[in-house]
Amino acid sequence: MNIIVTGGAGFIGANFIYSELENHPEDRIICIDKLTYAGNMATLDGAMKQPNFAFHRVDIADRPAVYQVFEQEKPDILVNFAAESHVDRSIENPEIFLQTNVIGTSILMDACRKYGIRRYHQVSTDEVYGDLPLDRPDLLFTEETPLHTSSPYSASKASADLLVMAYHHTYGLDTTISRCSNNYGPYHFPEKLIPLMILNALAGKKLPVYGDGKNVRDWLYVKDHAAAIDLIIRKGRAGEVYNVGGHNERSNLTVVKSVLAALGKDESGIEYVTDRKGHDRRYAIDPTKIQRELGWSPTVKFEEGLAKTVKWYLANEAWWKPILAGEYQDYYEKMYKNR
Ligand code: NAD
Ligand code: TYD
Repeated sequence: MNIIVTGGAGFIGANFIYSELENHPEDRIICIDKLTYAGNMATLDGAMKQPNFAFHRVDIADRPAVYQVFEQEKPDILVNFAAESHVDRSIENPEIFLQTNVIGTSILMDACRKYGIRRYHQVSTDEVYGDLPLDRPDLLFTEETPLHTSSPYSASKASADLLVMAYHHTYGLDTTISRCSNNYGPYHFPEKLIPLMILNALAGKKLPVYGDGKNVRDWLYVKDHAAAIDLIIRKGRAGEVYNVGGHNERSNLTVVKSVLAALGKDESGIEYVTDRKGHDRRYAIDPTKIQRELGWSPTVKFEEGLAKTVKWYLANEAWWKPILAGEYQDYYEKMYKNR
């Protein structure tokens, strides 16, 4: 099969590509990526050496360029990871989130309709469900939980999900959607919580915890997410949504302390800073449906995954150093200076 993976030069897309190349050498993977600040060709070094891998630098919101890739590559499946993905950036500048996450998604699905496809898969997020209270640990997001978004990022992702469902209902496009909790692991861009804390701690910089640090996220090792998507694209039912998560809720403060422990550092660098605007309190996924229907379950425990992740960052300075030296520095100054 020919599988187009959009956004494959980013964190989760790249981990998915490596899993597919390893587990399905019979398939051909075609990555399309615009290479925004979050996309990095160094991440795909290993994939570029494989004969069954191809890369096109294309913006998913560029209709003629997307159609050209479809004409050339004749995909059987498309997995859409391409997105603007950082909540803090969406609060500063929502427009590009609408352009990529909403318009881009519709253009990809138009291409699927025009050229034919066996399956279009949308990589969505638990953030489309809004947040849960901290004092109700019994409440979890199911696939039936109403969409109730907080940030421009989550609103753009929910809009894309609604479009995917509309293309299935109206045009009969074969679609699936996965809504996963927070991922962590290798190739995670340094602006996100876990890599930011690892790299700040290594540099002896402050560890900026938003608000009271009690916000809860449900963490999943990225390879477990990749395995879930692999099952959904091959065995999931058309028109369905699958929640993905490993029942691993932690407060941000607990996560930061675990990062410090994994690095053998003390907690004196922790600094409470002004909270994120509209900061969601808690996310928690009920993954019963994917477990029951597709037999998926997570394989990596948080302590083990975090230890692997820390080890990866320690061993891969050549990957993150150029990122920290580039425009990321301006971003960091702007977002954290007067916080
Ligand atoms: P990322 O920001 O690391 O990577 C995004 C990739 O998309 C980059 O390579 C970037 O260059 C590319 N891209 C951005 N705009 C593009 C465009 N217009 N055309 C083509 N490529 C473009 O993101 P990530 O963390 O790997 O997330 C991937 C997907 O998974 C996103 O759709 C995100 O909403 C979803 N998701 C992420 C998480 C998480 O914890 N990171 C959890 C659940 C779902
Ligand atoms: P993030 O990694 O941006 O993911 P998301 O907002 O999609 O869940 O943030 C995870 C949590 O960590 C979120 O509650 C915000 C918090 N956070 C901090 O406390 N400090 C930071 O510097 C960052 C980037 C995030």
